Amino acid sequence: EEIEKGGYDHFMLKEIYEQPQAIKDTFRGRMLPDQGIIKMAGIDEHMNKFLNAKRIIIVACGTSWHAGLVAEYIIEELARVPVEVEYASEFRYRNPIIDKDDILIAISQSGETADTMAAIKLAKENGAFVFGVCNVVGSSISREAHAGAYTHAGPEIGVASTKAFTTQITVLTLIALQLAKKKGAISRSKFHEYLVELDSIPNKVKKALESNDLIEQIAHVYKDAKNCLYLGRGFNFPVALEGALKLKEISYIHAEGYPAAEMKHGPIALIDEQMPVVVIATRKGHYEKVVSNIQEIKSREGKIIGIVTEGDVDVRDLADHVIEVPDTLECLTPLLTTIPLQLLSYHIAIALDRNVDQPRNLAKSVTVE
Ligand code: G6P
Repeated sequence: EEIEKGGYDHFMLKEIYEQPQAIKDTFRGRMLPDQGIIKMAGIDEHMNKFLNAKRIIIVACGTSWHAGLVAEYIIEELARVPVEVEYASEFRYRNPIIDKDDILIAISQSGETADTMAAIKLAKENGAFVFGVCNVVGSSISREAHAGAYTHAGPEIGVASTKAFTTQITVLTLIALQLAKKKGAISRSKFHEYLVELDSIPNKVKKALESNDLIEQIAHVYKDAKNCLYLGRGFNFPVALEGALKLKEISYIHAEGYPAAEMKHGPIALIDEQMPVVVIATRKGHYEKVVSNIQEIKSREGKIIGIVTEGDVDVRDLADHVIEVPDTLECLTPLLTTIPLQLLSYHIAIALDRNVDQPRNLAKSVTVE
């Protein structure tokens, strides 16, 4: 096992650090920025289905569901196709409306999650086209789907999902872009700009990982917190949910993710000097609005950890700590803002002496209901 950890103390940390390579592996051979094209057999062969779809329904559980939420924002933004995202466990039991022109995208790292599998079967019974996004090759879900695309993240051992999440977003971004192009919803130059920027993401993730030591110090300040709030807007709202889930899963600290603007409808009542609030406040993405949310937290003495774009000054003035990530296109920010949140939860869990790779009560893949 020590050899498999490749010099890292835990699988989770190893997998966090594998993300630059995992993302590259996921778009290798599929994205050709020089030629300005995307080639994805699973999508290209079924393009008519995608072009005729009135709606895309995404089903998943846990972290994969968060990747689905990011995908909803990206697909709607780029390809202008309506997307709904559901917990597989809700979808399968609630007698949902499924049309034969619907496309169901099932996202699953393991490809074995029982609820996601049941949602696929239900969609197939109702004539929908099912597309799987799985990491484990040959898994049950990848076999049950009509078509699909693998994330090429490599084996993920840590129970808390990290590189599966960022590679799921990568695959779904490629799908959104290809669909946008074929629909004529995106200009040739914008499409090209996305490819070039996506190509630079692995290096930018590497850069984000350089904040590891700073994040470890911040973790020591907040390790005894009883609660923690994560806020983000737009593409980074699902990242806030994922950041909170990571903290809950491995440190057992109660955490909630919220859309920053919804804070005033509830969570603001919880804010006092005991409450750390992690705010994703990147330059592109309703920045001024998020800064005003940060002011509201500050005036209630909450402790602010800002995830900001390199060179930021406004949040730095207000926050107790800032962690920088490189600049990128707004749609792609989740691939970078997720990184410090993964490291923050890891270091808090380590400081509390938790079993990060195998947290209590959790399983890597949930094959029972
Ligand atoms: C479990 C795991 C999570 C994972 C979820 C969905 O809860 O602990 O990390 O996100 O299942 O798993 P899947 O394999 O379908 O992505």
